[in-house]
Amino acid sequence: MYYKLRGVLVKEIRRLWYNFGLMYCQRLTLKDFRNYRRLDLSLSPGLTIFQGENASGKTTLLEALYLLATTKSPRAGSDQELVSFEAEAEFGAPAFARLAGTVERQDGEIEAEILVLRDQTGPEVGQAGTARKRIKVNGTPRRSIDLIGKINVVLFSPEDLDLIIGSPSLRRRYLDSTLSQVDHRYLRHWQDYAKVVAQRNGFLRNVRERQGRGRVTGRDEMSIWNVELVKNGAYLIKRRQEALQNLNNLAASLHGQLTGLVSALIPEPNTGFELVYQPSFDLQGATDETEIAARFEARLNEVRSQELQRGVSLAGPHRDDFAFMVEDANISTYGSRGQQRTAVLALKLAEVGWMHAQTGDRPILLLDDILSELDAHRRQYVLDTVQARAEQVLITTTDLAFFGDQATLRELATLYEVEFGTVKRV
Ligand SMILES: Nc1ncnc2c1ncn2[C@@H]1O[C@H](COP(=O)(O)OP(=O)(O)OP(=O)(O)O)[C@@H](O)[C@H]1O
Ligand SMILES: [Mg+2]
Repeated sequence: MYYKLRGVLVKEIRRLWYNFGLMYCQRLTLKDFRNYRRLDLSLSPGLTIFQGENASGKTTLLEALYLLATTKSPRAGSDQELVSFEAEAEFGAPAFARLAGTVERQDGEIEAEILVLRDQTGPEVGQAGTARKRIKVNGTPRRSIDLIGKINVVLFSPEDLDLIIGSPSLRRRYLDSTLSQVDHRYLRHWQDYAKVVAQRNGFLRNVRERQGRGRVTGRDEMSIWNVELVKNGAYLIKRRQEALQNLNNLAASLHGQLTGLVSALIPEPNTGFELVYQPSFDLQGATDETEIAARFEARLNEVRSQELQRGVSLAGPHRDDFAFMVEDANISTYGSRGQQRTAVLALKLAEVGWMHAQTGDRPILLLDDILSELDAHRRQYVLDTVQARAEQVLITTTDLAFFGDQATLRELATLYEVEFGTVKRV
Protein backbone atom coordinates (compact mmCIF):
# COMPACT_ATOMS: atom_id res chain seq x y z
CA MET A 1 0.00 0.00 0.00
CA TYR A 2 2.73 2.42 1.09
CA TYR A 3 4.79 1.71 -2.02
CA LYS A 4 1.78 2.07 -4.27
CA LEU A 5 0.94 5.42 -2.73
CA ARG A 6 4.54 6.53 -2.96
CA GLY A 7 4.58 5.50 -6.65
CA VAL A 8 1.49 7.58 -7.35
CA LEU A 9 2.94 10.56 -5.48
CA VAL A 10 6.27 10.38 -7.29
CA LYS A 11 4.44 10.23 -10.60
CA GLU A 12 2.27 13.22 -9.70
CA ILE A 13 5.28 15.27 -8.59
CA ARG A 14 7.06 14.36 -11.80
CA ARG A 15 4.01 15.36 -13.80
CA LEU A 16 3.91 18.75 -12.10
CA TRP A 17 7.65 19.16 -12.45
CA TYR A 18 7.57 18.54 -16.17
CA ASN A 19 4.36 20.50 -16.27
CA PHE A 20 3.92 21.55 -19.86
CA GLY A 21 4.77 19.40 -22.81
CA LEU A 22 5.70 16.25 -20.97
CA MET A 23 6.38 13.31 -23.24
CA TYR A 24 8.80 10.51 -22.66
CA CYS A 25 9.04 6.77 -23.02
CA GLN A 26 9.50 5.11 -19.66
CA ARG A 27 9.57 1.50 -20.78
CA LEU A 28 10.43 -0.28 -24.00
CA THR A 29 10.06 -4.03 -24.39
CA LEU A 30 11.06 -6.07 -27.43
CA LYS A 31 10.67 -9.69 -28.38
CA ASP A 32 12.26 -11.10 -31.53
CA PHE A 33 12.61 -7.64 -33.02
CA ARG A 34 15.60 -7.73 -35.42
CA ASN A 35 18.66 -8.81 -33.38
CA TYR A 36 16.86 -8.49 -30.01
CA ARG A 37 15.48 -11.78 -28.74
CA ARG A 38 14.25 -10.20 -25.49
CA LEU A 39 14.64 -6.71 -24.07
CA ASP A 40 12.96 -4.93 -21.19
CA LEU A 41 14.35 -1.44 -20.82
CA SER A 42 13.35 1.26 -18.35
CA LEU A 43 14.11 4.76 -19.57
CA SER A 44 14.21 8.14 -17.86
CA PRO A 45 13.53 11.63 -19.12
CA GLY A 46 16.55 13.72 -20.08
CA LEU A 47 19.50 12.63 -22.16
CA THR A 48 20.20 8.93 -22.76
CA ILE A 49 23.15 7.71 -24.78
CA PHE A 50 23.45 4.25 -26.32
CA GLN A 51 27.02 3.43 -27.20
CA GLY A 52 28.04 0.33 -29.11
CA GLU A 53 29.98 -1.10 -32.01
CA ASN A 54 28.64 -1.26 -35.53
CA ALA A 55 25.81 -3.77 -35.98
CA SER A 56 25.25 -4.11 -32.22
CA GLY A 57 21.60 -2.96 -32.30
CA LYS A 58 21.65 0.80 -31.61
CA THR A 59 19.56 1.97 -34.56
CA THR A 60 17.13 -0.88 -33.88
CA LEU A 61 16.22 0.69 -30.51
CA LEU A 62 15.35 4.03 -32.10
CA GLU A 63 13.57 2.24 -34.93
CA ALA A 64 11.34 0.49 -32.37
CA LEU A 65 10.24 3.80 -30.87
CA TYR A 66 9.71 5.37 -34.28
CA LEU A 67 7.57 2.39 -35.23
CA LEU A 68 5.44 2.71 -32.10
CA ALA A 69 4.84 6.37 -32.98
CA THR A 70 4.15 6.04 -36.70
CA THR A 71 3.46 2.28 -37.21
CA LYS A 72 6.12 2.32 -39.95
CA SER A 73 9.82 1.63 -39.88
CA PRO A 74 11.99 4.51 -41.07
CA ARG A 75 14.28 2.10 -42.91
CA ALA A 76 12.71 -1.30 -43.57
CA GLY A 77 11.56 -1.96 -47.12
CA SER A 78 9.16 -4.51 -45.76
CA ASP A 79 7.82 -5.28 -42.28
CA GLN A 80 9.05 -8.84 -42.79
CA GLU A 81 12.61 -7.66 -42.15
CA LEU A 82 11.68 -6.73 -38.60
CA VAL A 83 11.01 -10.24 -37.34
CA SER A 84 14.18 -11.80 -35.93
CA PHE A 85 15.76 -14.50 -38.10
CA GLU A 86 15.70 -16.67 -35.02
CA ALA A 87 12.03 -16.27 -34.15
CA GLU A 88 10.21 -19.56 -34.46
CA ALA A 89 6.66 -20.53 -35.24
CA GLU A 90 4.94 -22.20 -32.30
CA PHE A 91 1.78 -24.27 -32.00
CA GLY A 92 1.03 -23.64 -35.65
CA ALA A 93 1.02 -19.86 -35.12
CA PRO A 94 3.50 -17.83 -37.20
CA ALA A 95 6.69 -16.40 -35.71
CA PHE A 96 6.33 -12.77 -34.69
CA ALA A 97 8.14 -9.72 -33.38
CA ARG A 98 6.56 -7.79 -30.55
CA LEU A 99 7.35 -4.28 -29.49
CA ALA A 100 5.69 -2.33 -26.72
CA GLY A 101 6.26 1.05 -25.17
CA THR A 102 4.83 2.90 -22.20
CA VAL A 103 4.87 6.61 -22.84
CA GLU A 104 4.08 9.43 -20.45
CA ARG A 105 2.18 12.28 -22.08
CA GLN A 106 0.37 15.36 -20.98
CA ASP A 107 -2.94 13.55 -21.57
CA GLY A 108 -1.82 10.64 -19.41
CA GLU A 109 0.14 7.48 -19.89
CA ILE A 110 -0.26 5.37 -23.02
CA GLU A 111 0.71 1.79 -23.72
CA ALA A 112 1.35 1.05 -27.39
CA GLU A 113 1.97 -2.43 -28.71
CA ILE A 114 2.73 -3.76 -32.19
CA LEU A 115 2.96 -7.36 -33.29
CA VAL A 116 4.56 -8.10 -36.64
CA LEU A 117 3.68 -11.60 -37.86
CA ARG A 118 5.94 -13.42 -40.22
CA ASP A 119 4.16 -14.41 -43.40
CA GLN A 120 4.33 -18.20 -43.45
CA THR A 121 3.31 -18.53 -47.05
CA GLY A 122 5.75 -15.82 -48.14
CA PRO A 123 9.33 -16.10 -49.36
CA GLU A 124 12.22 -17.41 -47.31
CA VAL A 125 13.17 -15.59 -44.13
CA GLY A 126 15.34 -12.57 -44.77
CA GLN A 127 13.82 -11.82 -48.12
CA ALA A 128 11.14 -9.27 -48.77
CA GLY A 129 7.65 -10.52 -48.14
CA THR A 130 4.44 -9.29 -46.64
CA ALA A 131 3.99 -9.36 -42.90
CA ARG A 132 0.85 -8.65 -41.03
CA LYS A 133 0.70 -6.23 -38.14
CA ARG A 134 -1.51 -6.20 -35.08
CA ILE A 135 -1.83 -3.07 -32.99
CA LYS A 136 -3.04 -2.49 -29.46
CA VAL A 137 -3.48 0.78 -27.63
CA ASN A 138 -3.84 0.43 -23.87
CA GLY A 139 -4.45 -3.27 -24.30
CA THR A 140 -7.29 -2.94 -26.83
CA PRO A 141 -6.91 -3.98 -30.49
CA ARG A 142 -6.89 -0.94 -32.76
CA ARG A 143 -6.15 0.10 -36.35
CA SER A 144 -2.91 1.88 -37.20
CA ILE A 145 -4.81 5.12 -37.77
CA ASP A 146 -5.80 5.01 -34.07
CA LEU A 147 -2.20 4.78 -32.89
CA ILE A 148 -0.50 7.26 -35.23
CA GLY A 149 -0.11 10.61 -33.50
CA LYS A 150 -0.53 9.31 -29.94
CA ILE A 151 3.25 9.33 -29.50
CA ASN A 152 5.32 12.01 -31.21
CA VAL A 153 8.91 11.50 -32.23
CA VAL A 154 11.43 13.30 -34.39
CA LEU A 155 14.17 11.13 -35.81
CA PHE A 156 17.54 12.53 -36.94
CA SER A 157 19.54 10.09 -39.00
CA PRO A 158 22.36 10.17 -41.54
CA GLU A 159 19.81 9.17 -44.22
CA ASP A 160 18.10 12.54 -43.75
CA LEU A 161 20.52 13.87 -46.34
CA ASP A 162 18.43 11.97 -48.90
CA LEU A 163 15.71 14.53 -48.23
CA ILE A 164 17.85 17.00 -50.16
CA ILE A 165 19.60 14.86 -52.70
CA GLY A 166 16.94 12.18 -53.17
CA SER A 167 13.84 12.05 -55.37
CA PRO A 168 10.67 14.13 -54.80
CA SER A 169 8.86 11.04 -53.50
CA LEU A 170 11.14 11.08 -50.42
CA ARG A 171 10.26 14.70 -49.70
CA ARG A 172 6.54 13.93 -50.11
CA ARG A 173 6.91 10.98 -47.76
CA TYR A 174 8.59 13.26 -45.24
CA LEU A 175 5.72 15.76 -45.39
CA ASP A 176 3.10 13.02 -45.17
CA SER A 177 4.65 11.26 -42.22
CA THR A 178 5.36 14.51 -40.35
CA LEU A 179 1.87 15.94 -40.93
CA SER A 180 0.15 12.63 -40.18
CA GLN A 181 1.75 12.58 -36.75
CA VAL A 182 0.04 15.82 -35.78
CA ASP A 183 -3.13 15.93 -37.87
CA HIS A 184 -5.63 13.07 -38.07
CA ARG A 185 -7.63 14.69 -40.79
CA TYR A 186 -4.49 14.90 -42.91
CA LEU A 187 -3.85 11.19 -42.38
CA ARG A 188 -7.40 10.22 -43.41
CA HIS A 189 -7.38 12.44 -46.50
CA TRP A 190 -3.93 11.18 -47.43
CA GLN A 191 -5.04 7.54 -47.27
CA ASP A 192 -8.19 8.27 -49.29
CA TYR A 193 -6.30 10.40 -51.79
CA ALA A 194 -3.82 7.60 -52.53
CA LYS A 195 -6.72 5.22 -53.25
CA VAL A 196 -8.48 7.74 -55.49
CA VAL A 197 -5.31 8.37 -57.54
CA ALA A 198 -4.84 4.62 -58.10
CA GLN A 199 -8.46 4.13 -59.13
CA ARG A 200 -8.51 7.25 -61.28
CA ASN A 201 -5.36 6.09 -63.07
CA GLY A 202 -7.08 2.76 -63.76
CA PHE A 203 -10.05 4.62 -65.17
CA LEU A 204 -7.84 6.83 -67.37
CA ARG A 205 -6.00 3.81 -68.77
CA ASN A 206 -9.28 2.12 -69.45
CA VAL A 207 -10.62 5.16 -71.33
CA ARG A 208 -7.41 5.36 -73.34
CA GLU A 209 -7.84 1.78 -74.48
CA ARG A 210 -11.48 2.29 -75.37
CA GLN A 211 -10.56 5.44 -77.32
CA GLY A 212 -7.97 3.39 -79.22
CA ARG A 213 -10.80 1.14 -80.29
CA GLY A 214 -12.75 4.16 -81.49
CA ARG A 215 -15.20 4.30 -78.57
CA VAL A 216 -15.41 7.43 -76.54
CA THR A 217 -15.38 8.25 -72.94
CA GLY A 218 -17.27 8.42 -69.71
CA ARG A 219 -17.26 12.15 -69.15
CA ASP A 220 -19.54 11.79 -66.14
CA GLU A 221 -17.35 9.21 -64.51
CA MET A 222 -14.35 11.49 -64.96
CA SER A 223 -16.20 14.25 -63.12
CA ILE A 224 -16.91 11.90 -60.22
CA TRP A 225 -13.22 11.01 -59.92
CA ASN A 226 -12.27 14.67 -60.11
CA VAL A 227 -14.59 15.57 -57.25
CA GLU A 228 -13.01 12.88 -55.07
CA LEU A 229 -9.49 13.90 -56.04
CA VAL A 230 -10.11 17.57 -55.27
CA LYS A 231 -12.01 16.88 -52.05
CA ASN A 232 -9.08 14.97 -50.53
CA GLY A 233 -6.24 16.71 -52.33
CA ALA A 234 -7.10 20.34 -51.54
CA TYR A 235 -6.67 19.73 -47.82
CA LEU A 236 -3.32 18.04 -48.34
CA ILE A 237 -2.09 20.99 -50.38
CA LYS A 238 -3.33 23.50 -47.82
CA ARG A 239 -1.63 21.71 -44.91
CA ARG A 240 1.62 21.13 -46.81
CA GLN A 241 1.75 24.79 -47.77
CA GLU A 242 1.13 25.92 -44.19
CA ALA A 243 3.56 23.43 -42.67
CA LEU A 244 6.36 24.41 -45.03
CA GLN A 245 5.72 28.07 -44.32
CA ASN A 246 5.95 27.48 -40.56
CA LEU A 247 8.94 25.16 -40.84
CA ASN A 248 10.61 27.68 -43.10
CA ASN A 249 10.25 30.47 -40.55
CA LEU A 250 11.73 28.33 -37.79
CA ALA A 251 14.43 26.74 -39.94
CA ALA A 252 15.73 30.03 -41.36
CA SER A 253 16.81 31.31 -37.96
CA LEU A 254 18.17 27.91 -36.86
CA HIS A 255 20.13 27.77 -40.08
CA GLY A 256 21.58 31.18 -39.29
CA GLN A 257 22.74 29.99 -35.90
CA LEU A 258 24.12 26.75 -37.29
CA THR A 259 26.18 28.52 -39.88
CA GLY A 260 27.48 30.81 -37.17
CA LEU A 261 26.65 33.85 -39.24
CA VAL A 262 24.35 35.28 -36.67
CA SER A 263 25.10 36.32 -33.15
CA ALA A 264 22.55 36.75 -30.39
CA LEU A 265 22.76 40.49 -31.06
CA ILE A 266 21.04 40.21 -34.41
CA PRO A 267 17.42 39.33 -33.74
CA GLU A 268 16.38 38.84 -37.37
CA PRO A 269 18.84 36.51 -38.95
CA ASN A 270 18.92 36.36 -42.69
CA THR A 271 21.11 33.70 -44.18
CA GLY A 272 19.14 33.44 -47.36
CA PHE A 273 17.83 30.02 -46.36
CA GLU A 274 14.40 29.13 -47.66
CA LEU A 275 12.18 26.07 -47.95
CA VAL A 276 10.07 26.49 -51.06
CA TYR A 277 6.87 24.53 -51.66
CA GLN A 278 6.58 23.41 -55.28
CA PRO A 279 3.01 22.26 -55.83
CA SER A 280 2.25 20.35 -59.02
CA PHE A 281 0.37 23.35 -60.41
CA ASP A 282 0.35 27.12 -59.85
CA LEU A 283 -1.82 27.92 -56.82
CA GLN A 284 -1.94 31.59 -57.86
CA GLY A 285 -1.76 32.72 -54.25
CA ALA A 286 -4.62 30.51 -53.04
CA THR A 287 -4.26 29.66 -49.35
CA ASP A 288 -7.65 28.58 -48.06
CA GLU A 289 -9.11 25.19 -48.85
CA THR A 290 -11.98 26.41 -51.06
CA GLU A 291 -9.69 28.57 -53.19
CA ILE A 292 -7.19 25.75 -53.54
CA ALA A 293 -9.98 23.34 -54.51
CA ALA A 294 -11.16 25.76 -57.22
CA ARG A 295 -7.63 26.08 -58.61
CA PHE A 296 -7.18 22.30 -58.52
CA GLU A 297 -10.43 21.75 -60.40
CA ALA A 298 -9.48 24.34 -63.02
CA ARG A 299 -6.13 22.64 -63.46
CA LEU A 300 -7.78 19.25 -63.95
CA ASN A 301 -9.84 20.72 -66.77
CA GLU A 302 -6.68 22.15 -68.36
CA VAL A 303 -4.86 18.82 -68.36
CA ARG A 304 -7.87 16.68 -69.22
CA SER A 305 -6.89 15.73 -72.76
CA GLN A 306 -3.26 15.14 -71.78
CA GLU A 307 -4.38 12.83 -68.98
CA LEU A 308 -6.62 10.88 -71.33
CA GLN A 309 -3.79 10.56 -73.82
CA ARG A 310 -1.24 9.36 -71.28
CA GLY A 311 -3.52 7.42 -68.98
CA VAL A 312 -2.19 8.93 -65.71
CA SER A 313 -3.22 11.60 -63.21
CA LEU A 314 -1.01 14.61 -63.91
CA ALA A 315 -2.01 17.17 -61.28
CA GLY A 316 -2.26 16.95 -57.51
CA PRO A 317 -0.32 16.39 -54.29
CA HIS A 318 1.10 13.08 -55.54
CA ARG A 319 3.26 15.23 -57.84
CA ASP A 320 4.29 17.90 -55.29
CA ASP A 321 7.81 18.70 -54.23
CA PHE A 322 9.71 21.24 -52.14
CA ALA A 323 13.18 22.70 -52.47
CA PHE A 324 15.95 23.76 -50.09
CA MET A 325 17.27 27.10 -51.27
CA VAL A 326 20.28 29.07 -50.05
CA GLU A 327 20.82 32.49 -51.59
CA ASP A 328 18.25 31.58 -54.25
CA ALA A 329 20.17 28.49 -55.39
CA ASN A 330 18.73 25.00 -54.99
CA ILE A 331 21.30 23.25 -52.81
CA SER A 332 20.38 19.77 -54.04
CA THR A 333 22.31 20.79 -57.15
CA TYR A 334 24.61 23.58 -56.01
CA GLY A 335 25.24 22.91 -52.32
CA SER A 336 28.34 21.38 -50.82
CA ARG A 337 27.85 18.26 -48.69
CA GLY A 338 28.37 20.35 -45.55
CA GLN A 339 25.82 22.92 -46.68
CA GLN A 340 23.30 20.19 -47.41
CA ARG A 341 23.85 18.64 -44.01
CA THR A 342 23.40 21.97 -42.25
CA ALA A 343 20.19 22.66 -44.17
CA VAL A 344 18.65 19.33 -43.31
CA LEU A 345 19.64 19.73 -39.68
CA ALA A 346 17.95 23.14 -39.60
CA LEU A 347 14.78 21.55 -40.98
CA LYS A 348 14.85 18.73 -38.41
CA LEU A 349 15.41 21.11 -35.49
CA ALA A 350 12.59 23.26 -36.84
CA GLU A 351 10.38 20.18 -36.96
CA VAL A 352 10.81 19.74 -33.21
CA GLY A 353 9.51 23.23 -32.43
CA TRP A 354 6.78 22.91 -35.03
CA MET A 355 5.53 19.62 -33.62
CA HIS A 356 5.46 21.08 -30.12
CA ALA A 357 3.42 24.04 -31.37
CA GLN A 358 1.00 21.76 -33.23
CA THR A 359 0.36 19.24 -30.46
CA GLY A 360 1.23 20.96 -27.18
CA ASP A 361 3.54 18.03 -26.41
CA ARG A 362 7.28 18.12 -26.89
CA PRO A 363 8.23 15.17 -29.10
CA ILE A 364 10.73 12.52 -28.10
CA LEU A 365 13.96 13.09 -30.02
CA LEU A 366 15.87 10.21 -31.56
CA LEU A 367 19.38 11.08 -32.79
CA ASP A 368 20.88 8.17 -34.68
CA ASP A 369 24.64 8.52 -34.89
CA ILE A 370 24.53 12.00 -36.41
CA LEU A 371 26.97 13.78 -34.11
CA SER A 372 30.04 12.12 -35.61
CA GLU A 373 29.29 13.89 -38.89
CA LEU A 374 29.27 17.36 -37.39
CA ASP A 375 32.11 19.69 -36.50
CA ALA A 376 32.57 20.59 -32.81
CA HIS A 377 30.64 23.88 -33.10
CA ARG A 378 27.57 22.30 -34.67
CA ARG A 379 27.73 19.26 -32.39
CA GLN A 380 27.57 21.43 -29.27
CA TYR A 381 24.83 23.57 -30.77
CA VAL A 382 22.73 20.52 -31.62
CA LEU A 383 23.20 19.00 -28.17
CA ASP A 384 22.20 22.24 -26.44
CA THR A 385 19.26 22.84 -28.73
CA VAL A 386 17.74 19.36 -28.48
CA GLN A 387 18.08 19.25 -24.71
CA ALA A 388 16.29 22.55 -24.40
CA ARG A 389 13.44 21.36 -26.60
CA ALA A 390 12.54 17.87 -25.45
CA GLU A 391 11.85 15.97 -22.25
CA GLN A 392 13.66 12.98 -23.62
CA VAL A 393 16.53 12.71 -26.08
CA LEU A 394 17.85 9.30 -27.08
CA ILE A 395 21.20 9.31 -28.86
CA THR A 396 23.20 6.50 -30.42
CA THR A 397 26.93 6.63 -31.01
CA THR A 398 29.86 4.33 -31.63
CA ASP A 399 32.15 6.57 -29.62
CA LEU A 400 31.54 8.53 -26.41
CA ALA A 401 34.49 10.78 -27.21
CA PHE A 402 32.15 12.92 -29.36
CA PHE A 403 30.52 14.11 -26.16
CA GLY A 404 33.59 15.68 -24.60
CA ASP A 405 34.57 15.29 -20.97
CA GLN A 406 33.40 11.90 -19.66
CA ALA A 407 32.93 12.93 -16.02
CA THR A 408 30.53 15.74 -16.95
CA LEU A 409 28.79 13.50 -19.43
CA ARG A 410 27.98 10.99 -16.71
CA GLU A 411 26.31 13.73 -14.70
CA LEU A 412 24.30 14.93 -17.69
CA ALA A 413 23.24 11.69 -19.30
CA THR A 414 22.25 8.08 -18.65
CA LEU A 415 24.69 5.81 -20.45
CA TYR A 416 24.07 2.36 -21.89
CA GLU A 417 26.27 -0.04 -23.72
CA VAL A 418 24.72 -2.00 -26.58
CA GLU A 419 26.25 -5.33 -27.52
CA PHE A 420 24.84 -8.14 -29.71
CA GLY A 421 21.24 -7.23 -29.04
CA THR A 422 21.63 -6.59 -25.31
CA VAL A 423 21.58 -3.27 -23.47
CA LYS A 424 23.55 -2.71 -20.24
CA ARG A 425 23.60 0.36 -18.00
CA VAL A 426 27.19 1.62 -17.57
N1 LIG B 1 15.40 -9.67 -38.82
C1 LIG B 1 16.59 -9.70 -38.23
N2 LIG B 1 16.94 -10.75 -37.44
C2 LIG B 1 18.12 -10.78 -36.81
N3 LIG B 1 19.06 -9.81 -36.93
C3 LIG B 1 18.77 -8.76 -37.70
C4 LIG B 1 17.52 -8.63 -38.40
N4 LIG B 1 17.52 -7.47 -39.07
C5 LIG B 1 18.71 -6.89 -38.82
N5 LIG B 1 19.46 -7.65 -38.02
C6 LIG B 1 20.83 -7.38 -37.48
O1 LIG B 1 20.68 -6.52 -36.37
C7 LIG B 1 21.93 -5.92 -36.11
C8 LIG B 1 21.74 -4.55 -35.55
O2 LIG B 1 21.50 -3.58 -36.53
P1 LIG B 1 21.50 -2.02 -36.16
O3 LIG B 1 21.26 -1.33 -37.43
O4 LIG B 1 20.58 -1.76 -35.04
O5 LIG B 1 22.99 -1.81 -35.68
P2 LIG B 1 23.72 -0.46 -35.20
O6 LIG B 1 24.22 -0.71 -33.83
O7 LIG B 1 22.87 0.71 -35.40
O8 LIG B 1 24.99 -0.45 -36.19
P3 LIG B 1 25.74 0.80 -36.89
O9 LIG B 1 26.67 1.36 -35.86
O10 LIG B 1 26.48 0.15 -37.99
O11 LIG B 1 24.73 1.76 -37.38
C9 LIG B 1 22.72 -6.01 -37.41
O12 LIG B 1 23.77 -6.92 -37.19
C10 LIG B 1 21.74 -6.60 -38.39
O13 LIG B 1 22.35 -7.46 -39.30
MG1 LIG C 1 22.99 2.30 -36.72
